[in-house]
Amino acid sequence: MDADSNDPSYAGTLRAALTESLVAEGAIRDARIADAFRAVPRHLFVPQVPVELAYTDDVVLMKRDGSGIAISSVSQPTVVALMLGQADVQPGHRVLEIGSGGYNAALLSELTGPDGAVTTIDIDQEVTARAWRGLEAAGYPAVRVRQADGEFGCPEHAPYDRIVVTVTAWDIAPAWVQQLAPGGRIVVPLRMRSQTRSTAFDLVGAAESGTSLESRSMTVCGFVSMQGEGAGDERFVSLHGGRVKLSFDEDQAGQPLPPERVLDRRPVTQWSGVLMNREEPLSDLDLWLASTLPGFCVLVAEQRAVEKGLVSPVPRWGASAAASASSLGYLTARPTADPDHVELGVIAHGPDARAMARSFAGEVRYWKENQRDGAGPTVRIYPATFSPAALPAGFRLRKRHHQVVVSWPE
Ligand SMILES: C[S@@+](CC[C@H](N)C(=O)[O-])C[C@H]1O[C@@H](n2cnc3c(N)ncnc32)[C@H](O)[C@@H]1O
Repeated sequence: MDADSNDPSYAGTLRAALTESLVAEGAIRDARIADAFRAVPRHLFVPQVPVELAYTDDVVLMKRDGSGIAISSVSQPTVVALMLGQADVQPGHRVLEIGSGGYNAALLSELTGPDGAVTTIDIDQEVTARAWRGLEAAGYPAVRVRQADGEFGCPEHAPYDRIVVTVTAWDIAPAWVQQLAPGGRIVVPLRMRSQTRSTAFDLVGAAESGTSLESRSMTVCGFVSMQGEGAGDERFVSLHGGRVKLSFDEDQAGQPLPPERVLDRRPVTQWSGVLMNREEPLSDLDLWLASTLPGFCVLVAEQRAVEKGLVSPVPRWGASAAASASSLGYLTARPTADPDHVELGVIAHGPDARAMARSFAGEVRYWKENQRDGAGPTVRIYPATFSPAALPAGFRLRKRHHQVVVSWPE
């Protein structure tokens, strides 16, 4: 095609094609969200990239910190679409977006319509200035753009029917709950045991009896990490000179750690007999393992570590693992006679490897037999002051402001 990147009809054609592919893949299931995607000119929010790239289903990186870590981006359209589906924004809603880029705020503005209001805040003044310019250029001057630490929400325009957080959060900030209107919903990429899930939480219960939030949907995603007062402390433990790393959460500070060269110990492999379709996500199993395995962590390996035979290949985002003071085990898979399926197993190293591999693989089997085809877990959030005796059964995580309970169906 003889394309002129300044030609709005060319951008419109690319936009329509991207929208159709998001609908076809199931990322967009609501006609109003599809209309919003067809309407908002994403290329005006990422002017530094060619228009074709603006309409590719990919994140556009906007800024790195001094050590090269991504700190700001315009999110991947698939993730944006899934989160908008979770948010279920209605005409007339008042919405707060935490983490600006302009693009998602414009989509939110399409969904709230002229009777609603969208406020977007970012901790970084450079980002808010850019978002504001994009929103002006794209025809959304009514969106309010503010520079602020999202940990404190934006009390000026509260209450909100929806709060959409577009940065990985380690905890739910108390301000978000306080600024939520009755019947409101928070959609937030919440990190639990080094795994991030965009989770839609509805407000349940009255403030006086200890307001709580209950999950309605979850989808695995990746976002840049929250900065400022609410920043979490993801702890990486290096093994073998940093070629392999174990990721732990802030509340696992006292976790016993295996020796630095634990992977030199002879491995024990235990196959589980559990087959997975190659396309089937492991996210529910990962959360099950996080809920049940002592010393749960996520093992991330450099390609060199795989090539040197230190570890079996693990996904780019890491494999579920369990650590003890002497041993380390992690999830693996092997091909089966059916090219569409793999069998899950566990590789463990260290003096407790055999017992660790057996109990780890046992949890994989238990999940398959009791949870795989079930409704999946529900996550509930309670204030830190809420009596532990009154919490529902489930896997409990202590965050700074809240207690998180992950409950699995019986
Ligand atoms: C993935 S980007 C947001 C993408 C955006 N919503 C879009 O339309 O594509 C995440 C943003 O969160 C911002 N951020 C990080 N910590 C924050 C905080 N505590 N409060 C507000 N914004 C924060 C970063 O500066 C970054 O610009």
